[in-house]
Amino acid sequence: MSAKEIIDLRSDTVTLPIKEMLEAIRRAELGDDVFREDPTVDRLEQMAAEKMGKEAVLLVTSGTQANLIALMCNTKRGDLVILEAESHIYWYEVGGVYMIAGLLPWPVKSQAGAPMPEDVKAAIRPRDIHFPEPALICLENTHNRHGGTIITPSQIKAISEVAQEHGLKLYLDGARIFNAAVALKADIREFTRHVDNLMFSLSKGLCCPIGEVLVGTRQFIETARKIRKVLGGGMRQAGVIAAPGIVALETMIGRLAEDHRNARRLTEGIAKIE
Ligand SMILES: Cc1ncc(COP(=O)(O)O)c(C=O)c1O
Repeated sequence: MSAKEIIDLRSDTVTLPIKEMLEAIRRAELGDDVFREDPTVDRLEQMAAEKMGKEAVLLVTSGTQANLIALMCNTKRGDLVILEAESHIYWYEVGGVYMIAGLLPWPVKSQAGAPMPEDVKAAIRPRDIHFPEPALICLENTHNRHGGTIITPSQIKAISEVAQEHGLKLYLDGARIFNAAVALKADIREFTRHVDNLMFSLSKGLCCPIGEVLVGTRQFIETARKIRKVLGGGMRQAGVIAAPGIVALETMIGRLAEDHRNARRLTEGIAKIE
């Protein structure tokens, strides 16, 4: 990096598309995706499902929309959802969890973003006439408000065992899950295999202009497609969004290591200042 280059550290959402992405948009073969006729969207969805080791995926417009759709797919109105207390869903998504999904959010504390299985267990209320039904546990990885911390695959597995034991679904807000995989040099499937469904972002460190991807079973994605439509998120020639997403999956994941190196260099430099 030359001394003149400036890295804008306000957010990884300010990243701009690389020229190959703009070229891919220009060349994209398009169709109406509400009619399931956009070949570029189909290609992105096939690639992403394969990469994540799940049956199906759905391209959506934002992380907030992905999380809201997942909340609605995994629950029914009036249910209880267990969330990490500093999670993005709880803090920054305008209360969609209760305003639109109609759920009671139940925050649990954590160590650097990873809740302890016993705290999650304690938050699961018994099935009783007085209580809402517990339906879903949400994790976030990497964890935004905890400073980009990673929840390891074994920590996810421990929470998934609690979820299974109590018949709850486990969802992962994996907006930056590729950062976790790259940092730990682990296969992305190590992180996805223990959750029922998740989302990841194309528009953050992977530097696409728009787009997030919901990931899960075929049935989950069918329901998600319908809920996306209800929320006004059905898209027409969405290949213009999918095309840079394909470039991102092919070429940008490994480059997250450059961001990590720069972040470390900055941290170490700051730490040397008395
Ligand atoms: C962990 C996490 N989840 C979800 C979102 C929401 O994404 P969007 O801004 O695309 O709605 C963000 C945004 O920064 C985030 O950091």
